[in-house]
Amino acid sequence: MKNYFYYLRTILFKFIFHLMPIKYLYAVIDILAIKESKNLFVGSTQISNNLKWDKKKIRFDVWDKFISEENFTNQQIQFLEFGVYKGESIKYFAKKLLNKDNIFIGYDTFVGLPTDWQSAKKGMFSTDGKFPETDDKRISFVKGIFQKTFNNSIIDKNIKTIIHFDADLYSSTLFILFKLHEILDEYYFIFDELEGEELRALKDYMKVYDIDLKISYYSKFNGLITVATGKIKKKNIFPQ
Ligand SMILES: C[S@@+](CC[C@H](N)C(=O)[O-])C[C@H]1O[C@@H](n2cnc3c(N)ncnc32)[C@H](O)[C@@H]1O
Repeated sequence: MKNYFYYLRTILFKFIFHLMPIKYLYAVIDILAIKESKNLFVGSTQISNNLKWDKKKIRFDVWDKFISEENFTNQQIQFLEFGVYKGESIKYFAKKLLNKDNIFIGYDTFVGLPTDWQSAKKGMFSTDGKFPETDDKRISFVKGIFQKTFNNSIIDKNIKTIIHFDADLYSSTLFILFKLHEILDEYYFIFDELEGEELRALKDYMKVYDIDLKISYYSKFNGLITVATGKIKKKNIFPQ
C-alpha cells in the first residue's frame, strides 16, 4: 500500500512539473538560496544599496575598495575573467592593476550565452565573435565555451589569482568553481551577481567541497546582493 502511495505521488509531481516550466521552479530555488545565504555575509561590508541601476556604485566602488584594501595595485596578479562580452570589466581591472607582469585572460564564447538565462535568450551578449579592442599587451582572450576551452595548466599556482565570475549561468559558474578547485588552494574572487544562478552554483559547490569563504565587500541592487568580492580557501577534500 505504501509503495502505491509513493508511486502515485511521483506521477502527480511529474504531472505538475509538466504544467509548470522548469525555469519557474529554479526561480523558487534561487529565492531559497538567497534566504539561506545570509550567514555568508556575516562580517562583510556593504558598500552601497541601490534601487536604481548605478554602475559606479554597484560595480566600480566595490571593485575599487577590494583593490585598495587588498593592496593589489602594484602586486603581481593573474586575473581570469569568465564572461567578457565587450570587455568593460577586464579593461577596468587592467587599468587599476598596474604590475607590468600581470596576466589578464578573458574567456567567452563571444557569440553570447550558450543557453537561455532567465528571460534572456541564448546568444545574448554576442559580439559576433569579435574580441574587445585593447592596446594592453597583458590582456588576452580565449574564444569558446569554457567547458571546452578552459585548461587548468594556464594557472600559475605561485601568483596571486583573482577570478571574476561573470557568466550569469549556473552551469558555467559551477564548472569554473569545480575546475579551479582542482588546481588552486586559494584565490580571490569577484562575483558579478551573487544572487540567482551564481549564488546557487556557489552554494552547491560548497556542499561538495569544504572551503573557507570570506566575503569582504558587496553592493545591493533592488534589495539583492549584486557584486561581491572575497576569498576562497580550500580546507579538506570532503566535509567530515
Ligand atoms: C554578463 S556578460 C559579461 C559581462 C562583462 N564581464 C562586463 O562586465 O562587461 C556574460 C558573458 O558570459 C559568457 N558566457 C556564459 N557562459 C559561458 C560559457 N560556458 N562559456 C563561454 N562564455 C560564457 C556570455 O557569452 C556572456 O558574454
